[in-house]
Amino acid sequence: MSATTNTLISAVADRRSVYALSNESTISDARLEEIVQKVLLAAPSAFNTQSTRIVILLGNNHRKLWDIAKTAVAPHVSGEQAKATNAKLDAFQGAYASILFFEDPSPYEPLAGFKMYADKFGGWREQTSGMHQLLVWTALEAEGLGANVQHYNPLIDEEVRKTWNINPKWQLLAQLVIGKPVGDLPLPKDKKSLEDRYRVIA
Ligand SMILES: Cc1cc2nc3c(=O)[nH]c(=O)nc-3n(C[C@H](O)[C@H](O)[C@H](O)COP(=O)(O)O)c2cc1C
Repeated sequence: MSATTNTLISAVADRRSVYALSNESTISDARLEEIVQKVLLAAPSAFNTQSTRIVILLGNNHRKLWDIAKTAVAPHVSGEQAKATNAKLDAFQGAYASILFFEDPSPYEPLAGFKMYADKFGGWREQTSGMHQLLVWTALEAEGLGANVQHYNPLIDEEVRKTWNINPKWQLLAQLVIGKPVGDLPLPKDKKSLEDRYRVIA
């Protein structure tokens, strides 16, 4: 195994969902931007469509996102559930920044002729986004940040679009909340036995 392989897999294995986050960062905003740019240039995409779009929300824009989520979620929760949900949303809002992952369907338009695959494009966009999300998540945690991934889409989609003038074609797929971890990092979760999870057919 090459050193690069070990480093790569260790970085992925060390990534955790970290929920206790402060409103500080371990890196400059310029470095955060650089990492996102590098991921956009490095990650693969179906048919090389390069369909992933990323928006970094800092400062008041980050906090505004979680106000939008609070308003969007409010009609759907009540009582104890509302309290628990608000506490979670307050924690996201108290973090440093949010990174929004979108997929743009436009680069797939020239592929409409591939009838055999046309019904797969939505799934491939989800997979492409997941590859970008894992890379950004892992890279930022390697820089000492903590992060957790959230899915308040589609509840927040319209307000997000309006607030930041987002291309209406872009589909919001995930929100990554980042900040400096507070206290001990969560322990790795139990892993299921590998026995039923892969086969070698020689
Ligand atoms: C596709 C996907 C969707 C997820 N959605 C959420 C989510 O909406 N909210 C959340 O808090 N965590 C979410 N997670 C985080 C998982 O719960 C978490 O990664 C898993 O429990 C393993 O824990 P770890 O991240 O600490 O290794 C998601 C993870 C993946 C891969």
